[in-house]
Amino acid sequence: MDRATWLAERRAAVEADYTRDGPTYDDGYDPTTPTHRRFVTRLIETCPRGGTLLDAPCGTGPYFKMVKAAGRDVVGADQSVGMLAAAHMKHPDVRLEMVGLQELAFDAEFDATMTIDAMEHVPPEEWPIVLANLKRSVRPGGHLYLTVEEGEDREIETSFADIQARGLPGVRGETVADGTGGYHLLPGPCAGSALARGGGSRSRGRGRRVVRRARLRLSPPPVRQPSGSSVSEAELMQ
Ligand SMILES: C[S@@+](CC[C@H](N)C(=O)[O-])C[C@H]1O[C@@H](n2cnc3c(N)ncnc32)[C@H](O)[C@@H]1O
Repeated sequence: MDRATWLAERRAAVEADYTRDGPTYDDGYDPTTPTHRRFVTRLIETCPRGGTLLDAPCGTGPYFKMVKAAGRDVVGADQSVGMLAAAHMKHPDVRLEMVGLQELAFDAEFDATMTIDAMEHVPPEEWPIVLANLKRSVRPGGHLYLTVEEGEDREIETSFADIQARGLPGVRGETVADGTGGYHLLPGPCAGSALARGGGSRSRGRGRRVVRRARLRLSPPPVRQPSGSSVSEAELMQ
């Protein structure tokens, strides 16, 4: 099987799995960890009162309440209809768009954007288009809160051996073990360290994986400050 076909199948499987899980996704699970909440609070504070944030992908909308309580508006986008349906049940007043990160076409519509716990579903060759789409969604000077799940070297090597043994067209960093859609990307320390250089934090996420996170000021190019938390898109994409 060629890689493009395999990736299209994996993406469809990820979408189907989340749609299946949407109605019960929140049962006993709250993804809004203290670290996420801290970063989201900081992101909200970069926006003027009455401003609008994009939450993409929003899943079931666990951050909508925080944004609205802070006097800002939020638009949610996700590729899985089941997750959007669950978000709509909880927040019927929030504008939702069924669209993939790869197809986001917002143009300077938002004061800030958050992309939380999602880049692990995006294949490495699609990161540039996704990052470009996220950047374009924000007005000049706006910020993006982006998280990246980071794999341990041993896990990455074991997964790659598994991919090769199965004869799949995967690359190092991808995992095909059981789990959402049989696809997960653990980009390793490369992407993570770019975020860390920008002042992002590193902590244990669900399943004890390391999660890197950073609030990125997208444009104009950031002025470097000793304790600043901004990195440029160019740094992020190294
Ligand atoms: C782990 S959930 C995180 C959702 C939300 N950000 C949160 O923190 O709860 C991952 C979400 O990414 C969505 N997703 C996965 N791949 C996507 C893609 N290529 N485009 C848009 N949404 C995607 C899934 O449908 C799911 O809602």
